[in-house]
Amino acid sequence: GVANGSAARPLFTVDSPNVVYSESEIRSKFTYRTTTVTRDENGMYIATPQETVYDFKVDRRVPKTGVMLVGWGGNNGTTVTAGIIANRRGLVWQTRNGEQKANYYGSVLMGSTMKLGTDANTLRDVNIPFHNVLPMVHPNDLVIGGWDISGMNLADAMDRAKVLEPTLKDLVRKEMAGMIPLPSIYYPDFIAANQEDRADNLIPGSKACLAHVEQIRKDIRDFKAANNLDKVIVQWTANTERYADIIPGVNDTADNLLKAIENGHEEIAPSTVFAVACILEGAPFINGSPQNTFVPGAIELAEKHGAFIGGDDFKSGQTKMKSALVDFLINAGIKLTSIASYNHLGNNDGKNLSSQKQFRSKEISKSNVVDDMVEANTVLYAEGEHPDHCVVIKYMPAVGDSKRALDEYYGEIFLGGHQTITISNTCEDSLLASPLIIDLVLVTEMMTRIQWRAHSNDGESTKGYQSFHSVLSILSYMLKAPLTPPGTPVINALAKQRAALTNIFRACVGLDPESDMTLEHKLF
Ligand code: NAI
Repeated sequence: GVANGSAARPLFTVDSPNVVYSESEIRSKFTYRTTTVTRDENGMYIATPQETVYDFKVDRRVPKTGVMLVGWGGNNGTTVTAGIIANRRGLVWQTRNGEQKANYYGSVLMGSTMKLGTDANTLRDVNIPFHNVLPMVHPNDLVIGGWDISGMNLADAMDRAKVLEPTLKDLVRKEMAGMIPLPSIYYPDFIAANQEDRADNLIPGSKACLAHVEQIRKDIRDFKAANNLDKVIVQWTANTERYADIIPGVNDTADNLLKAIENGHEEIAPSTVFAVACILEGAPFINGSPQNTFVPGAIELAEKHGAFIGGDDFKSGQTKMKSALVDFLINAGIKLTSIASYNHLGNNDGKNLSSQKQFRSKEISKSNVVDDMVEANTVLYAEGEHPDHCVVIKYMPAVGDSKRALDEYYGEIFLGGHQTITISNTCEDSLLASPLIIDLVLVTEMMTRIQWRAHSNDGESTKGYQSFHSVLSILSYMLKAPLTPPGTPVINALAKQRAALTNIFRACVGLDPESDMTLEHKLF
């Protein structure tokens, strides 16, 4: 493990007058270049390049970090826990294909690279692991805990999930048997009625109240103290809830939300109570499910407290493919006219989603994911014009965690021709979601250690250093329905989301965005 506050040894340093390293910090000066567009009286665009100079400050001391999962005993919770244990211990197990080693495939941070630059001699790209760009927490060092309305220990819960190979389960069973989820809050109206039989580990009370907020805050503090942690990040990977109605005077403002919790209002979801507890406790909270946990009052509360929040809904399978494929098709100039998406799955998530109100949350989350790409292409689509888009999810117990996603993309090509692309995607849902849980924790933790300040035109820095906005839209790559600061655009296109993540990390060490121009190979 990493000792509290120790600085990880970097893989590279940046040699630039704009970048200064100290024992505890990396300070960089970064020029952000954008283009402002106005229109003249004839309606012609005028594009004006702009420059803003920012200072970034990165705390290099990697904190001892804990992650608490709400829904720890579920498929994702048990799978990510077993996966981290397997990696930490460097486990190797037998499968019918031979030996399998623990790895972090599917994690952008742990499984992908970023171009650092071009080799001075060979002019070849030099690529480094994404995880080494900034001084990040290593997932092997995460301490895991959490809550579940089912009191089953994690070893038995792992069996219930039916995701992992028996040989791997045997190796982690002993450690996981000692992991028991904390009791949680259960307001039956919010998840499917078919979940009731597993709800045996409950904090008393069946609607929101301040005592629930206080208990969750205490759980976080106790976990932090018991494990000698510097920081705790909380993630909702519990069942999908139904949407909460947005009611003026109840959940529309921070004050009203706190009052509504105090008064035990029936329209406050468990996930929102967790969010509020985390905001008040200063623990970042990420929502991995589709429901509207972040009602306007919760977002305002986070802003008020400068607490980090992120969401919604892990983007693991079908939607990830969609946000890559639609980006490609529309940017290739092909007019996508319909997307038919069908899923069936047989895990407990599927069972919960077989209930109409919970399915509706998922349907909403899955439905808006192409809007920005369609809207951006004013050549193919008239204002307000949209491809047809339909999402179906069915519960088929036999396939278990191995989710099937069948998609048909239908589009118009040159001179009235048509293209039909059919995709059949089969994979273990929880093995896709678990690395996302890790990425969300790692990026969120990193964001708590980055500060910025802007320079005014005369070169003076404006205010003191401050954090990024409470709503961490930088997490969009990992999420289906990205939450963004109020009034700011949502970006679903996968390539743009990855570029934002990459380039913000680069900016923090004073490196320009990766432009992919490779002029060095074109202009000689
Ligand atoms: P799961 O049903 O196996 O696990 C959910 C767990 O949450 C269960 O153990 C349940 O007892 C617990 N739970 C329910 N209400 C709770 C509460 N109020 N407090 C504490 N625990 C509570 O589901 P799975 O497959 O792990 O997925 C979790 C969530 O992640 C679901 O909402 C799902 O829609 C979402 N998700 C999953 C993706 C995937 O690829 N696996 C992708 C996108 C989202």
